[in-house]
Amino acid sequence: MRDIIMEVKFLDLKKQYAELKSEIDSSVQAVFAEADFIKGAEVKRFEAGFAAYCGASHCISCGNGTDALTAILKVHDLPRGSEVILPANTFIATAEAAVSNGLKPVFADIKEDFTILPESVESLINPNTSAIIAVHLYGHPADMDVLKKIAEKHDLKLFEDAAQAHGALYRGKKAGSLADGAGFSFYPGKVLGAAGDAGAILLNDEKLAEKARKFCNHGRSLKYFHEFAGINSRMDTLQAAVLNVKLRHLDEWVEARNRVAEMYIKRLSDVTEIVLPKFYPETLDAWHLFVIKTEKRDNLQEYLKNCGVETGIHYPLSLPEQPAFAGHSDYCGGYRAVKESKTLLSLPIGEHLGEKEVSFVAEKIKEFFVKSI
Ligand SMILES: Cc1ncc(COP(=O)(O)O)c(C=O)c1O
Repeated sequence: MRDIIMEVKFLDLKKQYAELKSEIDSSVQAVFAEADFIKGAEVKRFEAGFAAYCGASHCISCGNGTDALTAILKVHDLPRGSEVILPANTFIATAEAAVSNGLKPVFADIKEDFTILPESVESLINPNTSAIIAVHLYGHPADMDVLKKIAEKHDLKLFEDAAQAHGALYRGKKAGSLADGAGFSFYPGKVLGAAGDAGAILLNDEKLAEKARKFCNHGRSLKYFHEFAGINSRMDTLQAAVLNVKLRHLDEWVEARNRVAEMYIKRLSDVTEIVLPKFYPETLDAWHLFVIKTEKRDNLQEYLKNCGVETGIHYPLSLPEQPAFAGHSDYCGGYRAVKESKTLLSLPIGEHLGEKEVSFVAEKIKEFFVKSI
């Protein structure tokens, strides 16, 4: 054990709450005062505000990001048993949405920027393919123009898993407005996070939006009148009250994350043992995560922990390596996504960090590599 001279948290929601306390408390108290807990005014306000923020016609709030993705696939009525191509490195929810709709997830490889590799997508398309899900992983938008062309050429639906990309831009347009539908998660640790589980579906087609709204509310159009069997997945009014406050701060948080990313890149660019994420001219990253690659990942993580720096691994296993998808690893063995999963390390990023903390983390990373030569 070493003497810890500075603690750098991976995420600091206590600090965020302390800064927003008066806004959040009064918003939450108003919900209690009205006892307006389900489908309340704050929910409608959030749906309108988030749709406008993202430049989408319809926002349907729901219980979490997994349900949002499930609902998007559901309302598009994809043929049962058909294949949905998605990246091999993502959170399991992207694939679960396919499985729970009776669809088969098929894993494509990723590019150096961690998003789905269009060439790999094309190589997996066959007559049984019905859709592609692009994941804006770690807050970095996928190559949507190229994916759109592929989807059009093969008559496939293209969806966005934007669960990590609140506020990100692709060629000037917001993540969530770039394809046939998008799913967002507001899990507390996200760039725009609730005080519990919450999610949203963005759609531009009115009929599909209406269907998604019914699906998330027991398939009902009127009280106790159910057109079809749906699910119970509604955003609590309390969560919407919190999100309405936080949405006002989203742009400044994305800016702060970009500043932290820039500082890391500047301070670490001469460390040859790590591969840093990059800035790209066609995108504004949300920088949900700042993920570096290094062969010495586990030792570096341990070293940073002993120095007081919290880090994360996203994700320790690629999806084809998960027991849940046994068999898929046959065709994914040579994937970058599989090889690199052992090298990924997420450094702390967020508006809770300033120059002092970022410099400290960078200094400790450099120290580690000097010592480990
Ligand atoms: C890429 C991705 N997709 C989907 C989800 C699912 O969201 P939720 O946890 O709100 O169900 C998450 C959240 O962790 C995610 O990171």
